[in-house]
Formats: sequence, C-alpha cells, structure tokens
Amino acid sequence: MSKPTFTKSALPQAAASVSSTPAAQVWQVGLIGFGCVGQGLYDILQQQPNASFAISRIVVKNPTKERILPAERFEFDVDALLADDSLDVLVEVIDDAEEAFRVVAEALRRGRRVVTANKAMLSRHLPKLVQLQREGRGTLLYEAAVCGSIPVIRTLDAYFGAEPLRRLTGILNGSSNYVLTRMGEQDSEYAPALAEAQAKGFAETDPSLDMGAFDPRSKAVLLAAHAYGTFLQPEQVLNLGIEGISAVDIAFATSQGQKIKVVAGLQRLPDGRVTVLVTPQFVGPESPLYTVDHEFNGVVIEADFAGEQFLRGRGAGGHPTGSAVLADLAALRQGYAYHYPKATAPAPEYASDLEVEIYLRTDEDRLVDVLDFSEISEEADEDEYVVGYVALENLVRHRDLLRKYGAFVVRTGRLRPISTAVAAALIEEESL
Ligand SMILES: NC(=O)c1ccc[n+]([C@@H]2O[C@H](COP(=O)([O-])OP(=O)(O)OC[C@H]3O[C@@H](n4cnc5c(N)ncnc54)[C@H](OP(=O)(O)O)[C@@H]3O)[C@@H](O)[C@H]2O)c1
Repeated sequence: MSKPTFTKSALPQAAASVSSTPAAQVWQVGLIGFGCVGQGLYDILQQQPNASFAISRIVVKNPTKERILPAERFEFDVDALLADDSLDVLVEVIDDAEEAFRVVAEALRRGRRVVTANKAMLSRHLPKLVQLQREGRGTLLYEAAVCGSIPVIRTLDAYFGAEPLRRLTGILNGSSNYVLTRMGEQDSEYAPALAEAQAKGFAETDPSLDMGAFDPRSKAVLLAAHAYGTFLQPEQVLNLGIEGISAVDIAFATSQGQKIKVVAGLQRLPDGRVTVLVTPQFVGPESPLYTVDHEFNGVVIEADFAGEQFLRGRGAGGHPTGSAVLADLAALRQGYAYHYPKATAPAPEYASDLEVEIYLRTDEDRLVDVLDFSEISEEADEDEYVVGYVALENLVRHRDLLRKYGAFVVRTGRLRPISTAVAAALIEEESL
C-alpha cells in the first residue's frame, strides 16, 4: 500500500500551521454526530463551563429522532459546517466510516482543525489523512479512537517520539474483555456472558466487530503508525476473535495459572522488522494486563531506555471517550499536531514470515491439516486441542475458515522465524 512520504521539515510545518489561542477566547465547536460520544462531550462541557469550548452547531442524520436537547439545536447538512469559518474546530463522531472519511478529508483540505474518534475510518485512510495534513495545513487529532480515555496516541507520538520501542501490548477492546472476565468469574459459557455484556451496555447488539477482534485490529493499525512509523492496512494484521471460545478453554488457561485476553501485540523483531498480531493470548500474573478485567483497557509500552510502562483505563463510553475528545480540543488550542516522528526515518518493514505458537481447539480435524503445524508439542484428543507452531501466513489466510468452523485459537506469546521447509511449502501453495 502507499505510505505517506515525509520529510523532516514538512511535519513541523504542519504543527506550526495551527497557532495557539489566547486563553480567554472561547473556541466555537462544530459537532458532527450526537450519539454516545457526541453527547458525552456535550455533557462534559456542560459540567465545565470554564473549559473554553462552546458547541455552537450540531449536525445529526435522522430528523425525526427524539433528542435530549430542543430540536432547534440540530441541523442536518454537514457541508454547511465544513463551510462555516466561524467554527474554530470540527468534532467528527459519527458511526459511518465512509462518510466520516469524506467529512474529515474535506475539512483538512480546507485547512480546518478536526478531532475524530472513528478508528474504523482512520485505520483505512490514515496515510491519506496524514498526507492531506502536510499539504493542506489542517490538523487532525484522534486520541479517542484508541482506548477511549487512555492517552496512548499522544504518549507514543510526543513522549516516546525519539525512543525506539521494543514492544507494545494492549487490551484494546472492553466488550470482549468483559465477556472473557465474566466467563472466568462465573465459570460460564460464551453466550450468557455476551448476553450479560449486551444487557449492561458493554457490547453492541451486533457484537461481531468487537468479538471478532476487528475493532482492536483497527486500533492496532493506528498504534503501529505512531509506535513504529509503519502504516498498515487492517487486512494485513492477523485478527482472531473469541466467538469460538468455550468454558473448557478458560479452564485450560486456569489450570496453567493464566487468563485468556484478546491482546494486540506490536513487536520489533531482532532483525528490526515489526509484526502486529491481534488475537486471544494466554496472559500470566507477571503481565500488567492480567489484572485488566471487565470493560477496562490497558496498554504496556516497552521502550529501549525507559523500560516498561503501563496505562490502564476506560476504553469506551460517553464520558471516557468525550474526555479524550476534550483533551484533543485542549491540545489543538495549544497548537499541538501529531508529528509521526517514527515515520520521518525509513519505517521498519512489516514481517509476516514468522511462526506463531498457538493453542487450537476444534472438532474439525481438517483445520489442523489446513493450518499445517510445523511442530506439535501437545495434543489432547478428548479435549480436541493442539498446541504447536503454525506459519503466521497460514493463520492470516485461513482466519475466515477458523471463524466459520467455530475454532478457537489462543497465542502462547512465542514467535520464531519461519523454517525454510515451511516457507517452501507456503510458496508452493501460493503458486497453485
Ligand atoms: N461509543 C464509544 O464508546 C466509542 C468509543 C471510542 C470511539 N467511538 C467512535 O466514535 C464514533 C461515534 O460513536 P458513537 O458510539 O457515538 O455512535 P452512535 O451513538 O451510534 O452515534 C452516531 C451519531 O452519528 C450521527 N450520524 C450518523 N451518520 C451521520 C451523517 N451522515 N451525518 C451526520 N450525522 C450522522 C447519528 O445521527 P442520528 O442521531 O441522527 O442517528 C448519531 O448522532 C464511532 O466512530 C465510534 O467507533 C465510540
């Protein structure tokens, strides 16, 4: 895929294009979307009259929907907001990724300041949006798009901008984490734990994006851009979810003194390349992620010189996400723009020629054949599980099949270079 090109002089120029504002002046905000996040931001600003931001225009989609504010506060033409130069900043928090891209890209072309929370849109279009900022001198911040209230993007971009990172591991999706936690606490199966998460508002009616690890994959793509300067398309990243999990998997993990968490793992390999995986993983008590339970998110950053740091907080919900949007508004007032510092040098290459050690539970024998384990260390017929090494490219290629047959895969956390024999077999299959 095309990667934005950067020169060291171009990015500070983008940052400099937004000048800071005298503290007393209230910034006029154009709010696009008034759902969970939009209302969360609105409520936060209501509770903080001194926050120096006023929502002066609000655009929504449905003219007949009942609202918590009088009807005259709402309008329906987003292009009218884009054209309104009296607005100091636009906040895009709609649930339509393609329309969000159109709006955000157009705003940047017009040199506007924009805040978005839309990780699905960003993970597809980040290179273009970064390029537009360089050319159009607009500014885009999106802290809310990854882990809600946890300030991880700015931490990577600003604080760790100059320091190489060994690894970043995170629980980036509160819905699946809630389900996994409740299964562990109650010794229950997946369906009742999911139903409870939905009843409590921790999971969507259509849970597939969260439970299938599509949502944390989008976030991992954004983290890779800031942590390593590596721009990926979501499909490049292996994502495996928890729809196929059963109480026997939790019991297996418990018997090993571990929990199962959906972990996004971004890692620099010994040869300098980078890999990104988003799958269930066994997590032991030695990891800070072990105690990140229920709807919480957590991120562990391992930097070459600073060592390990751990951030934990609420990854979703109106107020936590609105809080991150407010933090971006405040940052924009101070003239802040992302620098993508790791992208100014040649970015590390993305590595997929690896073998991943997995636990696979399935009653479909042919999945074991299709994955073509290069080494099996444990096999239990009665519990229908296998532990061993599989080529990462095989997991990527067959992830839909694994999902279709309800298989459940957990990473052990061990990776190794692909063996020559496996690589040869993959090439052969590729050419069929
Ligand atoms: N919810 C969270 O906790 C959370 C956390 C992090 C990031 N995010 C991201 O934040 C964004 C918003 O999420 P949400 O949960 O607030 O969504 P939501 O509750 O479904 O609300 C979406 C809002 O967008 C409006 N909208 C949709 N299409 C529109 C269009 N074409 N023009 C104008 N308005 C439009 C809707 O209008 P109507 O009111 O007329 O339907 C609604 O007000 C998403 O990208 C989501 O991934 C959400």
